[in-house]
Amino acid sequence: MEFLTIPEIVKAAIAKLPPTHWHYLSGGADSEATLRRNRAALEAIGFRQRVLRDVSKIDCGGELFGQRWRLPIVLAPIGGLALIDPEGGLAAAKAAETFGILPFTSVMGFPALEVVGANTSVRPVFQLYVRGDRAWIGDVIGRAREAGFRALCLTVDTALYGRRERDLEARFSPASAIDRPEVAHLLGRDGDLRQAAVDWDMLAYIVSISGMPVVLKGVMEADDARRAVDAGVDTIYVSNHGGRQLDYAPATIEVLPEIVEAVKDRAQIILDGGVMRGSDVIKAMALGANAVGLGKLQAYALAAGGATALVRALEILEIEIRTALGLMGITSFAEISSRVLRPLRSIPAA
Ligand SMILES: Cc1cc2nc3c(=O)[nH]c(=O)nc-3n(C[C@H](O)[C@H](O)[C@H](O)COP(=O)(O)O)c2cc1C
Repeated sequence: MEFLTIPEIVKAAIAKLPPTHWHYLSGGADSEATLRRNRAALEAIGFRQRVLRDVSKIDCGGELFGQRWRLPIVLAPIGGLALIDPEGGLAAAKAAETFGILPFTSVMGFPALEVVGANTSVRPVFQLYVRGDRAWIGDVIGRAREAGFRALCLTVDTALYGRRERDLEARFSPASAIDRPEVAHLLGRDGDLRQAAVDWDMLAYIVSISGMPVVLKGVMEADDARRAVDAGVDTIYVSNHGGRQLDYAPATIEVLPEIVEAVKDRAQIILDGGVMRGSDVIKAMALGANAVGLGKLQAYALAAGGATALVRALEILEIEIRTALGLMGITSFAEISSRVLRPLRSIPAA
């Protein structure tokens, strides 16, 4: 039976996953205030309903890295995909390629980056955690370039690993998902300590050797965004890791306007955090993002039915986006700005 809605896909994922895995995918750090806030802040934004405009042709496409994509959506890097699909990150990359959007591939993922590079032609973005010395970094980046990845994404909101209480209470360690000899070297020796020591000098070094556009993921402050662009970063990826790292960080959609204001003419901007519907994509685009990332939804769809279900989730998002844009009187993302939004006052439950 074909999925018709996103909630149907989430329900199928819950039914298929062991509870430990569901909680690992869906949980956040500490009190989960930021996890909830990502959604709540999106839900507090409303749309203006404009009528009597010709919306018989709607273009839902977007542009990123100088290329047109079927939707302004990317698949966020997820390290634990091997927990839910035997093909791991390759299943996600293949689904993205089939549908026509850009995937990110996590260094923490399985299979190794060469396998993803060799078995797809979409040229994903390679996401790195710094878990070794400069020689190690140079080696991994060289391999990613060699394997055909189009850009390097450095994730920097993980100086320390967030306290995910659901995993702690279940005594569940997701590290088992990537505990495979083929990819063990990508975890690096003393990796946790290396990650905690990453600083602006390290960013400058990585930009200088990357030989590819650099995406900085985990930026939540305009000052950091500005400094990163000054250091040569090409794309600012606004993210709080889906509420899995710093609890009480604001929602990503709340900080997006400040970051857009700071760097919009000098860098591309991607946002993720709580995106579960086509309407969420429209809200982020209206506030100045160039694309929106899918984290948990990507994992849920893979759990529900592998690459096929992930392609289906993207088709549903496309239908939702087209329907909402049409009812807003808009025919493409080129026409969109914060003028199409309306803040919503919260209405007490009946
Ligand atoms: C299970 C899981 C594993 C993740 N692994 C990584 C990773 O390896 N690298 C990374 O940069 N972000 C990782 N993230 C964060 C996502 O890339 C993304 O920022 C986040 O999931 C977006 O929020 P959302 O889940 O609400 O869509 C992971 C997220 C989840 C849910």
